[in-house]
Amino acid sequence: MTPRLAARGLKRSFRIGGSGIEVLRGIDLEVQAGETVFLAGASGAGKTTLLYTLAGLETPEAGTVEFEGLSLYGLSGNALARLRNERMGFVFQSYFLLPELTARENVCLPAMIQGADARTRASELLARVGLGGRMDHLPAELSGGEQQRVAIARSLINDPSILFADEPTGNLDSKNGEAIISLLLDLAKSGGRTLVVVTHDENLARRGDRLVRIVDGRIAES
Ligand SMILES: Nc1ncnc2c1ncn2[C@@H]1O[C@H](COP(=O)(O)OP(=O)(O)O)[C@@H](O)[C@H]1O
Ligand SMILES: [Mg+2]
Repeated sequence: MTPRLAARGLKRSFRIGGSGIEVLRGIDLEVQAGETVFLAGASGAGKTTLLYTLAGLETPEAGTVEFEGLSLYGLSGNALARLRNERMGFVFQSYFLLPELTARENVCLPAMIQGADARTRASELLARVGLGGRMDHLPAELSGGEQQRVAIARSLINDPSILFADEPTGNLDSKNGEAIISLLLDLAKSGGRTLVVVTHDENLARRGDRLVRIVDGRIAES
């Protein structure tokens, strides 16, 4: 069976001033369909760079990423953008909600087809993440945990087969953080979705099917 995601030989470095730092030093990683994987490691280990590279957002200097058998960085920019919008969902540490839009309008935003269908689906998703009574609230009227729930609902609007999350609990207290991870795991398992989550929280990182530990741009444990 083709893995949902297959990364081979990923390398990436950044130049700061005169000197270069190697951030990804040869990463090989396969994620199966429906698997829930946590990428853990210290700050600066390369977790975000790896996640963005896996998700088609950061072109590697060497190596390949195949998503459902398709080579991401062999696609044109437009094809890659369309694939990301249609098949992948993203959740970030800062929720990136538009402040002037309601929860429901934020959730509708990435929908390919706007209108009544998107609004109905957005309402269903908001109910699913426990915000059935908050659809018409603005982000400023919601707590951090609630805003992250809106962002999670938004990530699901196009029914993606894979969800990527970068430190989704980074701005939350431990109780809300636990709840957000439980929600992501539940949404992944119940929807047959693959989930790849970056966290530096060792306790949270143990809650998936697999923990991949990144140390200095390499996989130290998988
Ligand atoms: N766009 C960039 N330009 C320069 N350096 C970067 C850039 N992105 C990341 N880095 C550097 O790469 C290293 C790894 O960063 P990152 O992938 O964000 O690690 P983590 O998410 O594990 O904290 C850090 O030293 C960081 O400063
Ligand atoms: Mg990071």
